[in-house]
Amino acid sequence: MKIAVVPGDGIGQEVVPPVLDVLALLGEEFGLGIEYEVFGWGADQWLSSGVGLPEGALDMLSAQYSAVFLGALGDPRIPDMAHGRDILLGMRRGLDLYVNHRPLTLPTGVVDVYRENTQGLYAGVGGTVLQGGLAGVAIDECVYTRPTVEKFVRYCLRRLAEEERGRVVLVHKSNAVPHTGRLWQEVFRRELEDFPQLEGSEEYVDSFCYNLVRDPSPYEGVVTSNLFGDIISDIGAALMGGLGLAASASICPETEFALFEPVHGSAPDIAGKGVANPYAALLSLAMMLDHLGHGGPSAVLRRALAGALRSDAATPDLGGRGTTALFTAEVTTRITRELDDRGRPRRAGAEEVRHA
Ligand code: NAD
Ligand code: IPM
Ligand code: MN
Repeated sequence: MKIAVVPGDGIGQEVVPPVLDVLALLGEEFGLGIEYEVFGWGADQWLSSGVGLPEGALDMLSAQYSAVFLGALGDPRIPDMAHGRDILLGMRRGLDLYVNHRPLTLPTGVVDVYRENTQGLYAGVGGTVLQGGLAGVAIDECVYTRPTVEKFVRYCLRRLAEEERGRVVLVHKSNAVPHTGRLWQEVFRRELEDFPQLEGSEEYVDSFCYNLVRDPSPYEGVVTSNLFGDIISDIGAALMGGLGLAASASICPETEFALFEPVHGSAPDIAGKGVANPYAALLSLAMMLDHLGHGGPSAVLRRALAGALRSDAATPDLGGRGTTALFTAEVTTRITRELDDRGRPRRAGAEEVRHA
């Protein structure tokens, strides 16, 4: 099995090496058989050659790879983020990764935010009428199609039901944005009928954000459109303690192809200083391992991450004095220690052979 790795820009370049180190360690210990290839898609390549997502990349990814791991995109030299839209939104849309799962682990419990990832205000429909060289009329259309909303909502409800979550809220803005709002409400109400075990509700996005910040405890599952999900996931990251902690998976349920990335961006303010928190990227690796059917190694990694967070190695964004390297070393030490304590799976097997 092969993974495509795109470190990207800024701290993407700093949080991906820890992911590859931990993947190598877990791969060796558990015999995961995951190979990877690194791709240099990002700002430097865009500026030097004008290429974002190279020609044929989508076909190559779906034919030869099981998943993408992405660090972050974004560079002050490209203020309109044209390369980021080409590469990141290009993969999300081009590979039909319409489910974006962004779990929020809060002191009050886990809130599973599900964001539609390919349409809405990100559909790429719009244009600008120039007046005297400036944007005079600007249009970004919010486009939703019933099949996409249906398959998205159905998938989210099925996952929430399987994971025995009890409540799910549709977050929308149908009072001000009535056309797509109505489509979402119709679909949500219809699909909920097939999941009597889930208690559904609907909230306007403004009041939802207000309620989430005041008291997240009532929320379990959140289903929402593209831009609202983007904003809610950053608010949720702040509630967790920072963007250094928030992980995500973008999935196409039909093909099972998926892209894993931290929620944060390239963080130009701290890039190059060696202090980026690799937790979000490493937690995204745990989500990738779960998705690829490696729940055991993922659980080991999640325990190591939780322990490292409470240690002296925590990075400055969390008030600690650690660095990216120190935090990563703390995680790998904890993984190794846990496997030592319980007897390593592969090493134990090899010894049995020798003694036989
Ligand atoms: P950002 O997420 O990069 O940073 C916001 C703040 O959070 C900054 O103060 C940053 O230092 C901090 N932060 C983020 N991740 C951190 C980490 N791992 N450890 C410690 N601190 C961390 O958002 P921004 O500054 O608005 O965007 C910077 C660039 O990234 C822009 O070009 C933007 O378009 C892009 N961006 C890309 C992605 C992505 O690739 N998925 C996501 C968001 C933003
Ligand atoms: C995210 C980012 C992206 C998004 C940007 C970089 C296009 O903010 O992954 O949350 O809006 O989806
Ligand atoms: Mn975002």
